[in-house]
Amino acid sequence: MKYSKEELSEGLNTKIVGKKIFVFDSIDSTNACARTLGDAGADEGAVVIADFQTNGRGRMGRAWQAEPDLSLLFSVLLRPPISIERSGLLTLYASIALARAAEKAIGEEVECKWPNDLLLRGKKFCGILLENSFQQGELSYAVIGAGVNVNQNPLPPELSDRATSLAEITGETLDRKHLFQSILTELDDLYAGAQRGDFSFITTEWNKRCTIFGKPITVQQHDQVISGTAVRLNHDAGLVINTATGTQTVYAGDVTLVP
Ligand code: BTN
Repeated sequence: MKYSKEELSEGLNTKIVGKKIFVFDSIDSTNACARTLGDAGADEGAVVIADFQTNGRGRMGRAWQAEPDLSLLFSVLLRPPISIERSGLLTLYASIALARAAEKAIGEEVECKWPNDLLLRGKKFCGILLENSFQQGELSYAVIGAGVNVNQNPLPPELSDRATSLAEITGETLDRKHLFQSILTELDDLYAGAQRGDFSFITTEWNKRCTIFGKPITVQQHDQVISGTAVRLNHDAGLVINTATGTQTVYAGDVTLVP
C-alpha cells in the first residue's frame, strides 16, 4: 500500500477502532482477511486495508471491483454485545460514520440508501458489506467492510450513470490517509453507543439522510420483487413497506424508486 501501517496510525487517536492496522498492497478481500482474524480470536478494532482486492465482495453475492490505489478498501473487526436480530443496525452505524467523514472531507450532504449504500448527488460512492459470525446464537464478531470511491475521476463510462467518487464531486484529488483516519475516528466515536446497544441517534441521523420514505419503491430480492410505499425503518434496521396486501418488513434487497 502507498502508506505504511505506521503512517496510517500516526496521529490517530482512537480508543478501539484502528488499534491494530493490517496493510496490504493486494489481497483477495479485506472482509475475508478480517473474518480470519475474527475466527482466530483477534481483538476488536482491528482494521485490514488494501490498495487492491483480487476477489472483493459486494452484497448479495456480487463482486466489488476497484482499480488499484484510488479507493479506500478496508474492513473493521468488532465484537459488540448485540443480538442476531439487531445486528443489521451495525450497517447503519457504519453508514453514519462514513457519511460524516465524507461530509467533512467535501462539504456536501451525503444521502443514505437502504440498506447500505451512500450516495452523493444521487450516485453511489460507497458500499458497505456487513458480515456477522454467530456462535451458539450470540454474535461472535462483526466485520464491517467498506469500499469508498475516492479518487476515480472520471468514473469508467459503464459506471458513470450510477456511481461517483469524492474527487469527481470536488474536482480535486483527496488525501486517502486523512480520509481513512477521519472514518476510523467517526467509527470510534460512535462505537460507545453501539456497545451499550443504543442505536437511537444513529437511526435518527440515518432517517434524516434517507429520502425514500413516503415514496413508491420496489425491493428486488433474490427470488421476488416487493412493491409498495417505503414507510420507515423498524427497530432493527428492517425497511417497513406498505404493499397492496398489507405491511411488510424486509431485511435485504435492492431498492429502486418508482418514477
Ligand atoms: C456493496 O455495495 O455491495 C458492498 C461493497 C463492499 C465492498 C468492500 S471493499 C472492502 C471490503 N472487502 C470486501 O471484499 N468487500 C468490502
